[in-house]
Amino acid sequence: MAHGGAAAVRSRNAGYIHCPLMNELPAYEGVTRFWHPVLAARALGKKPVRVTVGDKDFALFRDERGTPAALLDRCPHRFAPLSAGFVDAGRLTCPYHGWNFDSHGHGRSPSQPSLTRCDARAMKVAERAGYLWIADADAREETLPEATFSSPFEYMGAYSMRFECPLHVALDNFSEDEHTPWVHTRLGWLASDAPKIEYAAHNFEDRTEVEYRAPQRPGLAMRLFGLGPGALFVNKWVTRFDPVRTDYTITHVLPGGSPSSLVLRAVIFMVPEGKTRTHFRVFVSARDTHPLRSKLTRALAPLVVGLTYKELWDDARFVPTVARTPWSFEGMRLGKYDKPLVHNRKLLERIYLSRRPEAAPPSE
Ligand code: FES
Ligand SMILES: [Fe+2]
Repeated sequence: MAHGGAAAVRSRNAGYIHCPLMNELPAYEGVTRFWHPVLAARALGKKPVRVTVGDKDFALFRDERGTPAALLDRCPHRFAPLSAGFVDAGRLTCPYHGWNFDSHGHGRSPSQPSLTRCDARAMKVAERAGYLWIADADAREETLPEATFSSPFEYMGAYSMRFECPLHVALDNFSEDEHTPWVHTRLGWLASDAPKIEYAAHNFEDRTEVEYRAPQRPGLAMRLFGLGPGALFVNKWVTRFDPVRTDYTITHVLPGGSPSSLVLRAVIFMVPEGKTRTHFRVFVSARDTHPLRSKLTRALAPLVVGLTYKELWDDARFVPTVARTPWSFEGMRLGKYDKPLVHNRKLLERIYLSRRPEAAPPSE
């Protein structure tokens, strides 16, 4: 696979920041035209909370009625962080000179009450699936990503996890399962079964679809879900870019060829925080047709959510090792399992970062 010339084209593009450590990384200007999940709703109380999407910080707070609101975390006066301030009578108050703002960003200066043009930039906030989502003020609610839980899946829970690596490194890791035996310890196959992988990947204009099948490695957690020796692990996922997210479905095929009763689904939103950190927001749902476990689905939710958490934790623990992977694939000896990575990088640029498609790379 040839990518010669791509890096050169990129280096001439405005908007790319040259960082000696991280090679060339994109600026995230404009990504808040998409909705991003930023904070568990229950984590926002009386105090403002700072969240970051792309290159920008935002101050979340609750107005007088308890409705969540978000402003750019930069006071229009002298740029103090509003998230370091406090909420008084539903108005977010800057800790420096007391300018204060309502949920629409309309500002007042206590020392100069006649001052106009002292508004802060307000964002739109939505609450869905237990999380607060933010987007630019002109974003439409209809563009909130599709429902993450729908019948026959039952919502199990959600959590955040920090990945100390740039967005493209996190995305690459979640675009292939070839790393499974070496990075993971429970779901998936043993290194000795790596040659038995069955694999399919398809590229589309707006997404990639990938499927892996391989013998499930043995383990206690697997036995709890009725997965003994001979079960086949099946992982299918779809990756989209408005915003960046991967929708995983994990199932097993039992030795007789019948599907296992448990189907796990994890929708993972990858929210960039500056150039070198990505915050995952993960929504887990499941379906279990087992006669006993299906009655216990709610009770088993912590176990199901915990299983996905531990798998993601394996990835989060590993990715700092590869955090300096360059943006360009130039010079890498890519294999068939890397095909979705290359397509995802193009979609990341075109859809999420809103860049023009690059000149076609010369073929070898
Ligand atoms: S910097 Fe916020 S009031 Fe002065
Ligand atoms: Fe992984």
